[in-house]
Amino acid sequence: MPITFFIETVGCQMNVLDSELVAAGLLRKGFAPAADPKLADILLFNTCSVRQHAEDKIYSALGRLKHVKKYFPQKIIGVIGCMAQKDGETIFARAPHVDLVVGPGQIAQIPNFIDRIRAGETPLMELSLDRRGNHRHEVESSFDAYDPMRDLPARESPHQAMVRIMFGCDQFCTYCVVPHVRGPEQSRPMGEILAEVRQLAEQGCREVTFIGQTVSKYSDEEGNRLSTLLECTEEIAERSPLARIRFVTSHPNSMTRDLLEAVRDLPHVMPYFHLPAQSGSDAVLKRMHRGYTSGEYREKIHKIRETIPGAAVTSDFIVGFCGETEEDFQQTLRLAEESRFKNSFIFKYSPREGTKACELFADDVPEETKKRRNQELLELQNRICAEDNRAIVGAEVEILVEGPSKNAGKLKVLGEETSEVLQMTGRTPCDRITVFDAPESLAGTIQKVKIVRASAFTLFGERVKE
Ligand code: SAH
Ligand code: SF4
Ligand code: F3S
Repeated sequence: MPITFFIETVGCQMNVLDSELVAAGLLRKGFAPAADPKLADILLFNTCSVRQHAEDKIYSALGRLKHVKKYFPQKIIGVIGCMAQKDGETIFARAPHVDLVVGPGQIAQIPNFIDRIRAGETPLMELSLDRRGNHRHEVESSFDAYDPMRDLPARESPHQAMVRIMFGCDQFCTYCVVPHVRGPEQSRPMGEILAEVRQLAEQGCREVTFIGQTVSKYSDEEGNRLSTLLECTEEIAERSPLARIRFVTSHPNSMTRDLLEAVRDLPHVMPYFHLPAQSGSDAVLKRMHRGYTSGEYREKIHKIRETIPGAAVTSDFIVGFCGETEEDFQQTLRLAEESRFKNSFIFKYSPREGTKACELFADDVPEETKKRRNQELLELQNRICAEDNRAIVGAEVEILVEGPSKNAGKLKVLGEETSEVLQMTGRTPCDRITVFDAPESLAGTIQKVKIVRASAFTLFGERVKE
């Protein structure tokens, strides 16, 4: 019986990619993925610290494992990712049955740590340097770049992949823990990124998403910018199955003209931007240290719509940030109404120890008010989603087919279609989820679909057979 592992992942796409890379490293050692986390020999939690709630969930999951570890002392329990970097030793204090704590800048070493733990050396901890009290270049090099080539894919889908183009963050928004746990902002050399994209394309990958906390700021040591990088992927897209490139997350202050024009002019780069606004109030944006006013944000949206008509923009918002008044919140509603985001992720402010906001401002908006504002903004966003999705009914769109939908149900035979069909799901260039009946064998292909019906979150279509 091979040794089995299970990685439980929370947090953003950085973590999803890291888990994939760790899984590939463990597969390379001959370990096998466990179908059931309860039965895994190695159980890793890839954690997030962005809000208190995300941490609480991990600590309670760890608490529940105390007894399990008593009966199965050989089981290896590890905490990796952002909360590992943030809490370090505290994790052993709160959960003494944990064997391994590894920060996001050290994940390359996990297979090696597992060997040492199996040889009896436990507990083990490896973290990157704290940004405070250390020199920048030392901190930078303590965050090891770990983006190996993908010879052993551990991705969920063979047709889609994420590629990291930047590490860390230097924005230091006052509420945010990411610059502390993910380290200084660093762009990967363009040549390395292109080699990875080429390899993924050779494996049949059809869509690559470039990820980073502020990807629009990408700039490598040779001065290549995101627009250059996108241009250089064109040749790969022309000669391989690669058909689509996306990039997330952008920052309003680095949405430059060359980037917008690259998106406009390169057919394989999708007209989609994740451009978090966070708030519509200048006073709040200032306290958040976002570096733009609501007017400047509107200007960016205007530029996007002017350059690339039909582009989709999505946003993140924090409601109930320190000192947010009812009038501030009304301004957020106005911004959301005007900007017509494809969708928005809305969060209640959660104070994070070690951040400027936590030091300087009181978390003075009552929980009830945060909840209500969250609900109000969500209702507004859902209305916009429903209206804008409805406006697409009747249009023909190109869908990259991902696979059977959650409601795929049983196979059915439709019309003159010879093979069995089921409900498949995929996305439009603007990232709108679309379901339609088609044979499962079409996963990974691009299909023309006519939209016949729409809800706030899903488009329903019929395949246009050519
Ligand atoms: N780099 C991205 C987002 C990273 S974190 C950006 O700049 O937008 C993802 C989202 O979590 C943020 O956009 C923000 O909306 C939210 N977030 C970050 N810190 C938070 C906190 N302390 N409380 C609540 N939400 C938070
Ligand atoms: Fe956090 Fe701001 Fe950096 Fe985004 S840009 S990761 S919100 S500090
Ligand atoms: Fe969370 Fe770390 Fe991402 S704190 S949001 S998993 S970078």
